[in-house]
Amino acid sequence: MIPAHVPADRIVNFDIFNPPGVEDDYFASWKTLLDGPGLVWTTANGGHWIGARGDVVRSLWNDSERLSNECLAVTPGLGDVMQFIPLQQDGAEHKAFRMAVMKGLASRYVVALEPRVVEIARELIAELRRRGSCDFVAEFAEILPLNIFLSLIDVPLEDRPRLRELGVQLTRPDGSIQKRMVEPGDDLFSHILSEPVMGRSWTEDEARRMCRNLLFGGLDTVAAMFGMVALHLARHPEDQKLLREQPDLIPAAADELMRRYPTVAVSRNAVADVEMDGVTIRQGDLVYLPSVLHNLDPASFDAPDEVRFDRDLTPVRHTTMGVGAHRCVGAGLARMEVIVFLREWLSQMPEFALDPSQPVKMKGGNVGACTALPLRWEPSLS
Ligand code: HEM
Repeated sequence: MIPAHVPADRIVNFDIFNPPGVEDDYFASWKTLLDGPGLVWTTANGGHWIGARGDVVRSLWNDSERLSNECLAVTPGLGDVMQFIPLQQDGAEHKAFRMAVMKGLASRYVVALEPRVVEIARELIAELRRRGSCDFVAEFAEILPLNIFLSLIDVPLEDRPRLRELGVQLTRPDGSIQKRMVEPGDDLFSHILSEPVMGRSWTEDEARRMCRNLLFGGLDTVAAMFGMVALHLARHPEDQKLLREQPDLIPAAADELMRRYPTVAVSRNAVADVEMDGVTIRQGDLVYLPSVLHNLDPASFDAPDEVRFDRDLTPVRHTTMGVGAHRCVGAGLARMEVIVFLREWLSQMPEFALDPSQPVKMKGGNVGACTALPLRWEPSLS
């Protein structure tokens, strides 16, 4: 049922999990909404608002007073299951937990991690290079962030087959989190858990909710970004060439590619009425904010679809990593991962292209992504 406060000219039927044409192009499918008003109400998935213009998306994303992070998703109930820390917290409580997580992800730790990320990337690339083709998503994009994460939390690569158990550990008590709390090591979780929150230690339940947040926040998102970056380069051999010849452009290229290919969208529940774009978001309404509709709105960035490595992106205005109180705490780590990926892949792989015999496929949802990205290149015997 459509609530009475939603004007008829704002009603659309847009399924965020399956936007029309998403299989072919996530960005094009979302951008159809840029032609309409800045806020629309979709009847799909139980009914919710969608911020559909750059300024609206950014300003609502920044409004953590009236829009709460508690709900997690437009899917009812999902938030209750996950209970992420700090993502699903608000106000002073959020601030206290976020601070501890930020300290654990401080840039000195990120810098110290880089050689390990390089090593993991090299191993994977060396294996693929000989073959001459791969499904980039399944064989690289999803594997590299996972391996990085395992070393980040100090799980040796040999234990990879035990991953299922690790997943279980995050949802059920079994002692490994307790151990890190009592005897902190030199891993990411230990760094975070040794930071007091509100003058006291973390409880075990809070520790698990935080670990869960880092795992969910730091794997699919990075994999999705690797996929989009590889897709761009496969379609633009001139950019591959430029970055191979001038690798010092890679950090700026990473920033611009991250602006150009935003795939995260967030959900908020209104805890007060919000007047915006000529309509009222009523207390209790759900609002969906896709960063693609901010970053690719021509009013946010000049010629937003163009990738320009010399685009001035300081201060960061794009919303790929969010904006405001909940802006991604892993942004520095994610940026380092993308830079390492670009450096290692471009320096070790010959020119690569899409395999024309197989389609590229994409999906929508809270983290959009390529689901199939067939690449090929001249195999190397060395
Ligand atoms: C390219 C990769 C990434 C993208 C696009 C991304 C995107 C985002 C976005 C948009 C938010 C804001 C959520 C909101 O406003 O509700 C966020 C928050 C967060 N991200 Fe990331 N992220 C990435 C990588 C990472 C990594 C590597 C980690 C962890 C190591 C991480 C951990 C988190 C956490 C814990 C939050 C919650 C922060 C808070 O609520 O204060 N993310 N991320």
